[in-house]
Amino acid sequence: MISVSKNAGNRTHDKGRGAMKKAMMMALAAIGWLALGAGAAGAAESACITCHEKVTPGIVADWKKSAMADQFDCTKCHGDAHKDATDAVKAAMPTPETCKVCHKKQYDQYMGGKHSKGWIAMAAMPTNSLQPHPYISGLKGCGGCHRVGIKPDEEKKYNRYGMGCNSCHTRHVFSKAEAQKPQACQTCHMGFDHPQWEMWSSSKHGSIALSGGDAGRAPVCQTCHMPGGDHGVKTAWGFLALRLPEDDAEWMGYRATILKGLQVLDVDGKPTARLEVVKAGDVARLTKESFDAERNKMVAVCTQCHGAPFVKQNLNDADQMIKEADKVMAEAIEIVAGLYKDGIIKPQAGKPAYPDLLTFYDTQTPVEQTLYVMFLEHRMRAFQGAFHMNPDYVTWYGYAELKKDIVEIRAEAAAMRADAKK
Ligand code: HEC
Ligand code: HEC
Ligand code: HEC
Ligand code: HEC
Ligand code: HEC
Ligand code: HEC
Ligand code: HEC
Ligand code: HEC
Repeated sequence: MISVSKNAGNRTHDKGRGAMKKAMMMALAAIGWLALGAGAAGAAESACITCHEKVTPGIVADWKKSAMADQFDCTKCHGDAHKDATDAVKAAMPTPETCKVCHKKQYDQYMGGKHSKGWIAMAAMPTNSLQPHPYISGLKGCGGCHRVGIKPDEEKKYNRYGMGCNSCHTRHVFSKAEAQKPQACQTCHMGFDHPQWEMWSSSKHGSIALSGGDAGRAPVCQTCHMPGGDHGVKTAWGFLALRLPEDDAEWMGYRATILKGLQVLDVDGKPTARLEVVKAGDVARLTKESFDAERNKMVAVCTQCHGAPFVKQNLNDADQMIKEADKVMAEAIEIVAGLYKDGIIKPQAGKPAYPDLLTFYDTQTPVEQTLYVMFLEHRMRAFQGAFHMNPDYVTWYGYAELKKDIVEIRAEAAAMRADAKK
């Protein structure tokens, strides 16, 4: 597993491949494809390929490079209802279910992990229904990355494209080696609220891995997050860095305020309907056991290269950065909540008198804009940088910015209070 990047590109390293291929062919025969002749159809014999060599030569060239090309043709994923240039709309678009037929192991792992939940989590955001169609269903904004999850059928009425399995091994090569490269994660894990690409690639791990030579001695994304090729990606803290229960009482106080800011808890600290969304999307680990299970898997990866005390110290300190960030964040939420409580910010119709961090940029006031950026950009960097061994992200893009935000929020709140008195 450590040597993924060393093996990348070398298809013959897997001694089990011959046996696997045989097992796969037997499975195909069992489900009847070989008997129908389709499974044995060589690339050259296919009507689809003959025509598509002229219509979409790039797709055919890619497909011919794939490990599957000598076993079946286009029909296995797109069906055979479309026959010519006039009826392309009849071609089926594959879903992860299509791949499951032959790749049940990867499918089951993926379904148990966070990627398969990507669409649910995005669609559950309170302002999702206000967003433009091209931005969500058209995959030009949020939907463009969250397509890694299972896209519901109703979305396909607007746009039938977009499925998860080609996120890392792109069509129509569907290469394992491509998916093992860290760049396979880059298009989504970058930017404003989750710059793992930027953090990792400029960390010591990333600079060793990307500078060539003996790259396998430093970990890439897959080494730590897909050990043994496990498609069920999930971390202990998750994106929002929330967990229950919390033994540290002081920290639990900050966490309760953040949970109110997410409106998972109401003003009185009682769970709201959003707790069900957190459960359905597996957004946070809600038992000590589930947290420890993911953390232990990660420690097992690190300790293949580092000593256990070094790893423990580093992960504990990264955890403590979450606490420090939460302390500043909680103060900011309380200040804005105070503005609601005192009627200085009026709640929108039907909404509680409390800030809602999940509305992202669709807020009412500049002070809430500062609060959302503080939460999604700066708090994230302060701890994500710590987990990705990037001191600069923790400091200048994270913790220092949080301190700047809190000064701004105090001043904005004071000005709003002064204005309200006029
Ligand atoms: C006689 C030529 C021809 C044959 C045979 C043919 N196709 Fe196509 N196919 C086309 C053309 C042309 C388009 C693009 C249609 C357009 O531009 O309007 C297309 C489009 C497609 C699309 C994309 C559909 C979309 O909505 O984006 C898929 C998938 C596809 N073909 C698969 C197949 C498969 C599978 C077969 C064999 C069962 C096949 N094609 C046979 C000409 C052909
Ligand atoms: C009809 C069965 C079948 C279906 C459906 C199928 N595959 Fe495969 N796949 C195979 C076979 C056979 C291999 C080659 C295995 C080998 O050579 O060891 C393979 C290999 C692969 C590989 C490894 C390639 C490499 O570089 O080693 C990937 C990735 C892959 N498939 C992805 C997919 C995806 C994604 C889908 C759905 C869009 C899919 N497959 C659908 C049968 C299938
Ligand atoms: C550049 C790709 C990209 C875009 C664009 C994007 N996201 Fe995400 N989103 C991600 C990634 C990657 C994660 C996981 C990050 C992590 O865990 O650090 C994520 C996480 C989330 C989560 C948390 C899920 C969980 O279970 O913890 C929500 C909710 C979410 N995004 C909603 C949205 C919404 C709404 C939009 C549009 C306003 C959006 N995203 C735009 C890539 C994207
Ligand atoms: C292993 C499954 C698989 C096979 C076999 C396959 N495709 Fe696809 N194809 C896909 C996937 C996955 C997509 C993306 C679907 C989406 O975005 O929803 C796709 C999309 C397409 C598209 C539409 C997107 C675009 O880039 O225009 C065309 C056209 C297409 N395939 C043609 C072909 C042709 C021609 C063949 C045979 C040479 C073929 N496919 C074989 C899985 C497959
Ligand atoms: C997050 C990126 C990612 C996504 C999404 C993804 N894969 Fe993979 N896939 C990988 C990586 C990385 C490997 C190489 C794993 C290894 O090192 O053994 C891989 C390997 C594979 C292989 C080859 C296994 C082998 O050892 O020969 C198959 C088959 C496969 N994936 C199918 C799928 C299917 C089906 C889906 C959708 C359900 C999917 N993948 C989604 C990253 C991904
Ligand atoms: C040296 C191992 C390692 C490497 C390499 C690595 N990560 Fe991480 N990653 C971690 C650790 C540790 C965590 C925090 C795990 C926890 O919650 O216990 C984490 C957390 C995450 C999270 C959850 C949110 C966050 O940032 O805390 C995402 C998403 C993620 N990593 C993606 C990536 C991507 C994409 C890459 C490659 C660009 C990558 N990681 C490289 C170790 C690594
Ligand atoms: C097409 C966009 C896309 C690609 C490519 C992608 N991811 Fe993700 N990833 C996401 C989204 C979106 C989420 C959040 C899923 C959710 O809402 O549950 C996510 C979540 C994760 C998480 C879980 C973080 C948590 O909450 O615990 C990890 C770890 C992760 N990705 C690692 C990777 C790695 C490693 C790769 C490359 C091999 C990769 N991803 C490729 C979009 C992507
Ligand atoms: C594939 C081997 C490998 C894995 C897995 C790995 N590392 Fe590293 N790590 C290295 C190497 C090599 C260096 C560079 C050592 C140096 O700077 O002298 C390094 C550097 C570091 C550094 C910064 C430099 C230093 O020594 O202070 C930290 C911190 C670190 N690793 C922590 C971790 C943690 C935590 C994990 C698991 C989440 C992990 N590493 C996983 C190989 C690995």
